[in-house]
Amino acid sequence: MAQPLLTLDFLDRAAPVAEATPAGNVRVTLPTRTGRQRKLYIESYGCQMNFSDSEIVSSILFDEGFDTTDDLANADLVLLNTCSIREKAEQTVRMRLKQINSHKKRKPDMLVGVLGCMAERLKSKFLEEEKIVDLVVGPDAYRDLPQLIAQVDGGQKGVNVLLSREETYADITPVRLNSNGVSAFISIMRGCDNMCSFCVVPFTRGRERSRDAHSIVQEARDLVAAGYKEVTLLGQNVDSYKWAAANGSEHVNFAQLLERVALISPELRVRFSTSHPKDITDEVLHTMARHENICKYIHLPAQSGNSRVLALMNRTYDRAWYEERVNRIREILGEDCAISTDMIAGFCSETEEEHADTKSLMHFVKYDMAYQFFYSERPGTLAARKLADDVPLETKKRRLQELIDIQQVHSAERNARAVGQVHKVLVENFSKRSKDDLSGRNSQNQVVIFPKGNFKKGDYVNVLVHSSSASTLLGEALN
Ligand code: SAH
Ligand code: SF4
Ligand code: F3S
Repeated sequence: MAQPLLTLDFLDRAAPVAEATPAGNVRVTLPTRTGRQRKLYIESYGCQMNFSDSEIVSSILFDEGFDTTDDLANADLVLLNTCSIREKAEQTVRMRLKQINSHKKRKPDMLVGVLGCMAERLKSKFLEEEKIVDLVVGPDAYRDLPQLIAQVDGGQKGVNVLLSREETYADITPVRLNSNGVSAFISIMRGCDNMCSFCVVPFTRGRERSRDAHSIVQEARDLVAAGYKEVTLLGQNVDSYKWAAANGSEHVNFAQLLERVALISPELRVRFSTSHPKDITDEVLHTMARHENICKYIHLPAQSGNSRVLALMNRTYDRAWYEERVNRIREILGEDCAISTDMIAGFCSETEEEHADTKSLMHFVKYDMAYQFFYSERPGTLAARKLADDVPLETKKRRLQELIDIQQVHSAERNARAVGQVHKVLVENFSKRSKDDLSGRNSQNQVVIFPKGNFKKGDYVNVLVHSSSASTLLGEALN
């Protein structure tokens, strides 16, 4: 049903080095045309979990007679799937609502809804603050959308922000939006039980729960049958995935789930995100080592390189623990396993020396890639309640820039190491610059561009890399 849709994003997987973040992308839905009566325009902000949720929402609304469209001006229902992770993410949505308002003036029967984390954080206050909004629906309430839309059709506003301890949308087959037909996301869990003091996610996404392992494996099988070549298993902390059958006959942890998905087909690449340094186990690393098709890439956010700051952040590991985990990755998977991180500059009371520790951790690990941010206080979080946001903005920005500069050098060094080597690349698309070139990624998640020859999307191609920059590898196909 879901035809391949184009993408308007600048996907995070193109390995940005700096503030272009996993929570900084916007994706717009391009059309599904099945002649359904009403047109849904959906825009997603924030992390991959949100993009994945938009696919669930589109599936629920498809069954209600909605096709997706990329034509905002003529949409019957406009949904923004929002992010609250930093203040800037929320400002972006508010500005977008202003623009949507001008469309609504021209098409007064247009319904406007906000979904996701900002909806959950602001609840019905959203309706007071933004008059244009008709619908406010939190991440666990999407099954209620048809009922809420009917309510709005009847002239009322619709709000459901109830969080759930059980909802995983396990039985809903997502409508693949913006898909290249090669790679897809699969949500394996929802919510987060960690209480990192800076983070709004536990408040907006609720308690952690793991999805039925069989439904995950089935979704991956269906994707393989539909021609997909890569899945990314998604969760805020995938290493704490834990599912048990209702009768207790079966228990599945993350390493076991990873293995089940990897065994579906040697042609299917498996990725996952995000790994929490406190929870990533040797069992996961050994499972990665056993299966060629589990990509050798780990996103292992450190947040800081200083143990006092990590304690204030409530990350529950210290620097020594983090370094030990990195050493284990290198021992079990070798130098070729890529590691990336998230870093926060200028967290509450962070001193220059503590900031220097973050820089020295970066030199210790030499990350392949990093998403870096300056600290943004979020209402209601532990840090907002207990700690002063006392690092001046200019200092935060300067520290962030220092981290970005270091990462730029490390990314370039890391990419330069690939020159002269042959890499197995899964082709995802044409290169953005030229239709004569193809773009794909290797196991380490590096972007590789090469002349297309007779290859096409979805092919595995051995590419001899001849040159590199901080963001890309360039090469020639061998097979
Ligand atoms: N679950 C993931 C992170 C999800 S949020 C993990 O634990 O690693 C993505 C990233 O946003 C975080 O890793 C953090 O670096 C950043 N972030 C979260 N809250 C933030 C805040 N208040 N200010 C700045 N950056 C923040
Ligand atoms: Fe936020 Fe921490 Fe949970 Fe990640 S692990 S989502 S940073 S609370
Ligand atoms: Fe943003 Fe919510 Fe994801 S706050 S980063 S969309 S979980």
